[in-house]
Amino acid sequence: MTGRLLVAQLLDKEHKVRVIVRSTDNLSESVLKNPDITVIEASILDLTDEEMAGHVRNCDAVASCLGHVMDFKGMYGAPRQLCTEATRRMCSAIESNRHSAPTKFILMNTVGVKNPELEESRSWYERGLLTLLRYGLPPHKDNETAAEYLFQDVGKENQYVEWCSVRPDSLINADVSAYDIEESPSTGIFTGRPTSRSNVAHFMTELIENAALWNRWQFRAPVIMNAVDPGETTVGR
Ligand SMILES: NC(=O)c1ccc[n+]([C@@H]2O[C@H](COP(=O)([O-])OP(=O)(O)OC[C@H]3O[C@@H](n4cnc5c(N)ncnc54)[C@H](OP(=O)(O)O)[C@@H]3O)[C@@H](O)[C@H]2O)c1
Repeated sequence: MTGRLLVAQLLDKEHKVRVIVRSTDNLSESVLKNPDITVIEASILDLTDEEMAGHVRNCDAVASCLGHVMDFKGMYGAPRQLCTEATRRMCSAIESNRHSAPTKFILMNTVGVKNPELEESRSWYERGLLTLLRYGLPPHKDNETAAEYLFQDVGKENQYVEWCSVRPDSLINADVSAYDIEESPSTGIFTGRPTSRSNVAHFMTELIENAALWNRWQFRAPVIMNAVDPGETTVGR
């Protein structure tokens, strides 16, 4: 759902957008008719390396809003490593194109995944919950390994890929509003400060458009949560 919101916000800002979707059923008529969008109807992991390289060719930015469908098949069936494998395939495709300027890669991850470079402490409650998620829900492990892939395999010295792993808290559907961006979750996680999907899309759009914001957050894992005080936005702090 966040992917659809991101596409809408990018089109509103007159970007040229290519989307890879399993089905066009969830895209509105106005989006499908927009001359700035190219829709590729495919299940992302079924694409060949050549097809993937063609789809990301000449893109300034590539974003992944993939997530497992929250039913039994989506959580416990194949592909268990949807986010990791798609991240690996997209970054490898970007690298294979060898553009003269690096391409931005933005991953939608989760606040449940720690930034491995920071000493992020967790309360007993949070650690217990995350242990349950890690061993009980394969999608959580997938989010962890997708982020690990960026930190460890793509790294920060990559000539072709610059990346950012965006970490929302519990997602809700609401209009764009004030939100906070933090290096680490300062008020704990799963504590009732949700994140609107439209705010995630907004932040991703800003990362794509705003060079200063990108320089601030590239190679990092910013946490995004709706602002406690809606009158106050601290984007890019
Ligand atoms: N739920 C939360 O509270 C929460 C909190 C923090 C972070 N997150 C993370 O946020 C992301 C999900 O955000 P969301 O709510 O916007 O997700 P969503 O609405 O469930 O969208 C997930 C997307 O992934 C696609 N997808 C699912 N399985 C696929 C497969 N096997 N092959 C190809 N595409 C597939 C879906 O395609 P179809 O439309 O064709 O199904 C859909 O476009 C996940 O990475 C999740 O871990 C979630």
